[in-house]
Amino acid sequence: MKIAVLPGDGIGTEIVAEAVKVLHALDLDFEMETALVGGAAYEAFGHPLPEATLKLAQEADAVLFGAVGDWKFDQLERHLRPEQAILGLRKSLGLFANFRPAICYEQLVGASSLKPELVAGLDILIIRELTGDIYFGQPRGRRTAVDGHFPGAEEAFDTMRYSRPEIERIAHVAFQAARQRSKKVTSVDKANVLETFQFWKDVVTEVHQQYPDVELEHMYVDNAAMQLVKAPKKFDVVVTGNMFGDILSDEASMLTGSIGMLPSASLNAKNQGLYEPSHGSAPDIAGQGVANPLATILSAAMMLRFSLQQPEAADRIESAVQSVLAQGLRTTDIFAPGTTKVGTMEMGDAVVAAL
Ligand code: NAI
Ligand code: MG
Repeated sequence: MKIAVLPGDGIGTEIVAEAVKVLHALDLDFEMETALVGGAAYEAFGHPLPEATLKLAQEADAVLFGAVGDWKFDQLERHLRPEQAILGLRKSLGLFANFRPAICYEQLVGASSLKPELVAGLDILIIRELTGDIYFGQPRGRRTAVDGHFPGAEEAFDTMRYSRPEIERIAHVAFQAARQRSKKVTSVDKANVLETFQFWKDVVTEVHQQYPDVELEHMYVDNAAMQLVKAPKKFDVVVTGNMFGDILSDEASMLTGSIGMLPSASLNAKNQGLYEPSHGSAPDIAGQGVANPLATILSAAMMLRFSLQQPEAADRIESAVQSVLAQGLRTTDIFAPGTTKVGTMEMGDAVVAAL
């Protein structure tokens, strides 16, 4: 099995180094090959996603990704900016299913922005469709309005669209994930206003007939946003489109204490996947050795479970992370009085020791 390791920019290199250290400590039989991506690749080769990096990712069984981006690239043309690398990888690998578990570890209950009783024991899974919706729909652009409230005025427009196969495949992913969990799916839509999401609701309901053992609930996105902060534990698997999923998964991430704790997996139809922390390259703390590597280490655990068929190894990593938290070790983002402040490398070493 081959893992493409793409650290990227900023804290990406620091946190991926710790995840690689943890993977090596498992003593499993896989090959890892590293390549440049994002701003680092732009500086070396003039492109954020060089041909060789893309080829390595396409041929690997899984991609372990850090983060890309830095303020110093803000002036570049859009197609040369580091962030294009992650969009290009998602698109060319067909990574349509994005998994973002929001788990509030017992030791971090006090770090959440919600009351402890609302988040203690929280373990929900947001599944976001990643390659369709208004983020990719054509046509889009700017023009002079011919109708609407201000005919003759300059306007911009995007197109929200989903095809039946796109909805069917993400619905199957959600129902199958629910079978491994508490067997409940909440499909989030805006069917009361948008035709795209009435269609979404209809197709999800049809696919549900193949999963009579799973409970399906439909919820409007505005209500879902409210319920996530009112009673987040009522959810188990949440499935939704690209834009609603983008927003709700960031909202859910804040329930867990720190963005530095949140892993993610993006899968295609062949179970090839890209695994990355939910956060970015954090240029404000890059190079200081203080970034929290746990989101990336937990992403490596998801990689072992989903793409490399090593569920026991994944469990071992997750237990090791809980054990270092139980020892009171904290990077600055989750530090609280009474705990021990550690740096990125010390946290990685502690996970290896706990393994
Ligand atoms: P960010 O997630 O990089 O940082 C937000 C805040 O969280 C910062 O204060 C940062 O210090 C902190 N933070 C993030 N990860 C942390 C960790 N592991 N440990 C401790 N603290 C952590 O988001 P921001 O600042 O909006 O974006 C910075 C750059 O990252 C931009 O260039 C952006 O485009 C890029 N980005 C890249 C992503 C990716 O590669 N998938 C995703 C999101 C942003
Ligand atoms: Mg987002």
